Amino acid sequence: MQEEVLFKITNGLYVVSARHKDNPEIFAGSLVDAVSQIAINPNLLILSCMNNSYTKECIEQSGEFGVSVLPRGIDPFTVGNFGFQTSRNTDKWANVRFSEKDGLPYLDEAIGKIRAKVINKLDYPCNTLFIAEVEDAFDPRDTEALTYQDYRAGFKKEVLEAFSLWQKGAPTETDTPSPAAAETQPSQQTKHWTCVVCGYVYDGEIPFEELPEDWLCPLCGVGKEFFELR
Ligand SMILES: Cc1cc2nc3c(=O)[nH]c(=O)nc-3n(C[C@H](O)[C@H](O)[C@H](O)COP(=O)(O)O)c2cc1C
Repeated sequence: MQEEVLFKITNGLYVVSARHKDNPEIFAGSLVDAVSQIAINPNLLILSCMNNSYTKECIEQSGEFGVSVLPRGIDPFTVGNFGFQTSRNTDKWANVRFSEKDGLPYLDEAIGKIRAKVINKLDYPCNTLFIAEVEDAFDPRDTEALTYQDYRAGFKKEVLEAFSLWQKGAPTETDTPSPAAAETQPSQQTKHWTCVVCGYVYDGEIPFEELPEDWLCPLCGVGKEFFELR
């Protein structure tokens, strides 16, 4: 019930960017809905990042982030690219068109771009809240912003389809295990319910089969139908 009401607070969808903390050559980035302007004079934003987000770690290290405001009509793959995999082991920016300004990347598809400097941080068990001052806001475009409600109301299906098609065309190490690796595989491996979209492995106390049908992957937000025993 609470969730039903809280979903009525409509956020947009954004790609937050930061300098990669382990590799200065590339950038991290994450899809987020939890961004809001909370003050003017100075212009302040609040950004909520999940603690397992790699982009969050990069923001903590560099103290700044970029925001690309997503438009309605954006390529659904772009949304899945930033929301369904982690920058920890993927260069998400290599899959999209972007331009760099003052050392941070912004999507070419964005209808507005913001650079913000972290001035305060609040740590919670699952999330970290960054309060940040806007240092630059540029490239506005006269197109409607994509909302989280658009995503939930139907766009999510397009995003999942586009991302899963892309994944099928992009072979991974696990697609073709080397003969040597295959030989060393135990014949009876313990299998785990694994999210095929983001790789999250379910290890909760309630058996996976008994989780409610509307249960969602805590990492990328897809439903139970996207889990396989692997
Ligand atoms: C619709 C949608 C909204 C999301 N909103 C947020 C958010 O507000 N904050 C957040 O930290 N993660 C959010 N996520 C999850 C991240 O995008 C996801 O965990 C991503 O893989 C993190 O990537 P990173 O590890 O490279 O930071 C959202 C995902 C989706 C699909």
